[in-house]
Amino acid sequence: MTVFCIVLALCGLLCLAQSARARPKLGARADVQNSLNVSTCPGYKLGSLKQTVHGVTAQLHLAGSACNAFGEDIANLTLQVTYETETRLHVNIFDTAEQQFTLPPAFFDRPSPPSSTSPSVLNTSALQFNYISSPFAFWITRRSDPSAPPIFDTRVGSLPPTPIAPFLNASDNRTAFDGFNLVFEDQYLQLTSALPYDANIYGLGEVVSSSGFRRSVTQNGTLQTLWARDDADPLDENIYGSHSVYLEHRFDTASNKSQSHGVFLSNSAGSDIMLATPPSSNTSFIQYRLLGGTLDLYFFSGPDPNSVIEQYGQVVGLPAWQPSWGFGFHLCRWGYTNLSVVQEQVEKMREANIPLEVMWNDIDLYHSYRDFTSDPGSFPGDEMRAFIRDLASKGQHYIPILDAATGHTANATDIYDPFTRGTDLDVFLKNPDNSTYIGQVWPGYTVFPDWFAPNAEQWWTEALTNWSTGGVEFSGLWLDMNEISSFCLGSCGTAPGADLSNTSVPVTLPGDPDSLVVDYPEGYNSTISGTSGNITVNGTLTYGAGANATNVGGLAKRSILFKRGLGAAEESDVNLNAPPYAIHNGFGALAEHTLATNATHHGGYVELDTHNFYGYMEERATNLALRQIHPGQRPFLISRSTFPGTGKWSGHWLGDNTSKWSYLLYSISGVLQFQLFQIPMVGADTCGFMDNTDEELCNRWMQLAAFTPFYRNHNQRGALSQEPYRWDSVANASRTAIAVRYSMLPYWYTLFANASTLGTPPVRALFFEFPDEPELFSVDRQFMIGSAILVTPVLTPNVSTVDGLFPGRGAVTWRDWYTHEAINSTSSGAVSLSAPLGHIPVHIRSGSAILLHSKPGYTTSESAQSPYSLLVSLSQDGSAFGTAYLDDGTTLPTDDTPVKNSTLQFHAAGKSVSIAKRGDYNAPQDLAQVTVLGVAERPTRVTVGGKSVARQDWVYTAAVQRLQLSGLAVSLNEGGTISWR
Ligand code: NOJ
Repeated sequence: MTVFCIVLALCGLLCLAQSARARPKLGARADVQNSLNVSTCPGYKLGSLKQTVHGVTAQLHLAGSACNAFGEDIANLTLQVTYETETRLHVNIFDTAEQQFTLPPAFFDRPSPPSSTSPSVLNTSALQFNYISSPFAFWITRRSDPSAPPIFDTRVGSLPPTPIAPFLNASDNRTAFDGFNLVFEDQYLQLTSALPYDANIYGLGEVVSSSGFRRSVTQNGTLQTLWARDDADPLDENIYGSHSVYLEHRFDTASNKSQSHGVFLSNSAGSDIMLATPPSSNTSFIQYRLLGGTLDLYFFSGPDPNSVIEQYGQVVGLPAWQPSWGFGFHLCRWGYTNLSVVQEQVEKMREANIPLEVMWNDIDLYHSYRDFTSDPGSFPGDEMRAFIRDLASKGQHYIPILDAATGHTANATDIYDPFTRGTDLDVFLKNPDNSTYIGQVWPGYTVFPDWFAPNAEQWWTEALTNWSTGGVEFSGLWLDMNEISSFCLGSCGTAPGADLSNTSVPVTLPGDPDSLVVDYPEGYNSTISGTSGNITVNGTLTYGAGANATNVGGLAKRSILFKRGLGAAEESDVNLNAPPYAIHNGFGALAEHTLATNATHHGGYVELDTHNFYGYMEERATNLALRQIHPGQRPFLISRSTFPGTGKWSGHWLGDNTSKWSYLLYSISGVLQFQLFQIPMVGADTCGFMDNTDEELCNRWMQLAAFTPFYRNHNQRGALSQEPYRWDSVANASRTAIAVRYSMLPYWYTLFANASTLGTPPVRALFFEFPDEPELFSVDRQFMIGSAILVTPVLTPNVSTVDGLFPGRGAVTWRDWYTHEAINSTSSGAVSLSAPLGHIPVHIRSGSAILLHSKPGYTTSESAQSPYSLLVSLSQDGSAFGTAYLDDGTTLPTDDTPVKNSTLQFHAAGKSVSIAKRGDYNAPQDLAQVTVLGVAERPTRVTVGGKSVARQDWVYTAAVQRLQLSGLAVSLNEGGTISWR
């Protein structure tokens, strides 16, 4: 068996550019017999191979008789290997005839392949491609250590059969993973790579993972299905977003050093990705099973976790610039039934002095549940305009919901312009026979925007503009139900045969009499009064846990809608409706609670291939629309269904979680996952969405979420109210946490600027920052904000302490945010922290310097009017470093028009802190306070810019080694030095 390693080759241009392809129309294939068995699949043999300036291209030919396991084997494949950068290797295996679906480049910009004249990194890049010819297999090694176990290795033919009972389903009659050859069929692709035993794998999602941020590779392993799905955050099942990217972190016990790498499969097909370990084996593996497309793989060399994520961002696009107000506190619920109720929330928040930055509305806003409307009775346009303008005059904002489906009119007298105009402009999704595709969502029967339609963006922008001019003057938008959700099993029928006159809501809504919300958090006790007991509003018990009603769930009547549709035609060549391999979709059938997979987009694209990026297409169109509606401003979008690249256009919330302690915990993994996915503006429904929350859970949650990027309290229709002012203890806890958040806004803003320019994740798992400390690899009960702040939230009821790890093995001093006391953490063991209700432990890492607002205000803009304050936590050698990015907070930078901006650098060493500025944006405020922690001895003299600071303007507190300067007026634009002797 010959083993080749690609070294140097210079011959011709490697062109990776491929055009988008719709599914081809082939003839019927009588020859295909689905053996449903991949163990006989022959794999491929490498044919002609050509070395190029930047890699290699080769042909792969089926190595034996076709197995046609779940479709038809494709005989001829092309392999393209491109050493794209020093840290990125691209391996693309596609059908030579280029008939398989690939992501349309018009909507997804991937980095262009290097040109034949650009310098080659073939001999220098961190990763190397290796292969054997027959059966073809490849593996990727690090150039620095070619003999170390490869980071990806498809030579797995000899793996023993692996029984993984929970992974089996009806169409997969294998009792084990057995047959690990490369399979490339029109409706089924399979690729397997060996992993180190019990590898540290993160990513693959979207998922609420019972194993936490670190995915399970041994025991039951992991089955990650990717098929965008509207389901209320079930454990370990596919939900709203589809992300086939993972980060693996390897620790070498010999050197006590680790390295991370990343693997991204760029493919939109419905898929199963499995992590498993054969019995008694010392090897684990990852297996991809895809319903179509190509094997378009990117490998990132890291070598640390943050740089893997940055390198992934270079491929899928860096996150959108966020407006500074997006970091304020957002309040929402389903069930604010009219404008007065909404106004009341704004007033109550103000009365309670709990900062409210953005008020939201759910579908209650709509007339007949239709997009782009406000109900003339309960949310009249003129009053909405006045309300939103009043908010704006106070520095506050307004965001409404926008559902993906567009209401279908009932008859000729039913006037709904977005539907009529969309029909005229031909922007709605079709059945294969070219009739309009009909589904069903809140407004009853609906149609669905087809983002491939040439006029779709124009229509969407017009409808949004009209909505805004009609009174709903939104600052940003909330994109919901875009998996895309529809309540029929596939098509609901085709006009004119179908009766579309019924425009009533097709389901029982939560909170309706037969769907009361009666569940409570774990540990809730209705017989006691207090934080985990009965909830009282103004002293009166409003709901009791003993209520008799049966909770039948939000979509109780959904099942009666099943199978009433007429369905749509089938293509003859591939089974669009039920591909032979059935991925483990949580709902079973692919079309369950979504569109039929043969729904047809402009250009011949079928829903089966494009389903997973419907949300992405909507996010892109909406972001572009907002740029027209608010020229020059940064769009603010929060969306439910996401895909690689979504971060460029939108943020995300973690969907319909439950008011349970377990979901408080999962919210941390969720936020971390989306840092890896390059969609860093993310957060959970604070206090929980489904079920009733209670005072204690809401208290802890309002505090935890204040340290996550997107901070919104949102609640289910019919559940107990959970605005933070409802309970005194929650109000207090919220005020405290929001004050910390708002003082940290310059820090958040800097982290997000780094995300938008470099792809660096703002929120980090502890091992991202301390990669050589294995005890951190599974930690997801704590998290870091940037490199400087460690958050240790309480995640269980009825406790007043919480255990936390304090990384750095004693080389880092962790100081309490509130008291500045140093933690005694010389070992790697857990430290118990005091955490009574209303207190969330937060620690600052030594060696950091962060810029703060000195006086957090009611809004982010008010906070920004206070002078700055600088917090420096010295490391044990007396040094510290930090940066702060400044700009006007709202202007959208583009390639043509960068915004004025500055970066401040703070350097501490040798008993002084220096401040230097780069850039053309003038800091709007002076620096009024400086706090230096870790000053071992009481200074006798403190100077700023060489001049002594008056004795009353500095204080030294020996107990916490703190030097505090106040009353300063240091211009950050001029820079300067603060010293003490
Ligand atoms: C589903 C969303 O996930 C939820 O947040 C929203 O409240 C409901 N749709 C109603 O619009």
